[in-house]
Amino acid sequence: MTIIETIHVRKSCRTYDDKAVEIEKLEELQSYTESSESPLFGAAPRFRLVGAGGEHAAALNKSVTYGLVSGARHFIIGAVAPGPKAMEDFGYCLEKRILRATSLGLGTCIMGGTFRRGPFADGIGLTEEELLPAVSPVGYPRARQSMRDGLFKTIAGSAGRKPWKDMFFLGDMGAALERNNAGAYAECLECVRLAPSALNRQPWRIIKDKRRNDFHFYLKRTPGYRIGFGKIELQNVDMGIALCHFELAARELGLEGAWVADEPSARPRGLEYTATWIDGGR
Ligand SMILES: Cc1cc2nc3c(=O)[nH]c(=O)nc-3n(C[C@H](O)[C@H](O)[C@H](O)COP(=O)(O)O)c2cc1C
Repeated sequence: MTIIETIHVRKSCRTYDDKAVEIEKLEELQSYTESSESPLFGAAPRFRLVGAGGEHAAALNKSVTYGLVSGARHFIIGAVAPGPKAMEDFGYCLEKRILRATSLGLGTCIMGGTFRRGPFADGIGLTEEELLPAVSPVGYPRARQSMRDGLFKTIAGSAGRKPWKDMFFLGDMGAALERNNAGAYAECLECVRLAPSALNRQPWRIIKDKRRNDFHFYLKRTPGYRIGFGKIELQNVDMGIALCHFELAARELGLEGAWVADEPSARPRGLEYTATWIDGGR
């Protein structure tokens, strides 16, 4: 599977099959999950794949609230120290791990809210300086998803996505970016549209420069209530996930570019700036 295909097929899974994950797949996922990397904004999130051998898995399944997850054999747990754009770096790195699991044929579901943090904190050896923004069960999806899983998907509207005109703009927020004006980057934007987000709120707003293939990424925070806990801001995690999908799709398509955090002087009303993709192919 290519990365773009992987992004297209990924969807959240909360009900897992009894089938054990093959040892070679587990080893590959574990070594990738636990490898360190230097993400965009200088945070150093770390991840563990726990449950191999089954010793933690049963307890962790129970630690997911509302009985939302059943039968997961493994969990990815992530931790990061608070700092500027640490949530974005966390989301960027976590999503790479989710996509690796997806490409191995495994189901996942990023969870930032519906679990008790204590048992997972033990699983990763959380330090006092660190936050634990999200976890994900990992395993083979069961063919029939549970009723609770179905109910959650209905409430969150998980199957739906906002149309392009609500998220992608040309020059400023006044003009929608049509697919045929996005050139080779159309697929990268579509990959952002398909990304997972907390409560499926899809808070990504992207403004393309009028002349160049540069893309400014902004967060439109959901008004009315906070999606997060303390310093854990799940919509900032969503932004990191969007950067991950955009960049991986661009690299696979051979589009060169790099991220900069250089906010354009005119800030659109109600949006928070995250980063800009500067196209390198000019
Ligand atoms: C940062 C983040 C936090 C999430 N938190 C939860 C959660 O606490 N519980 C849950 O069941 N799903 C959670 N989800 C999954 C979303 O509900 C899901 O991605 C969204 O509804 C879109 O569905 P899809 O992933 O199947 O495309 C979270 C996703 C993200 C990105």
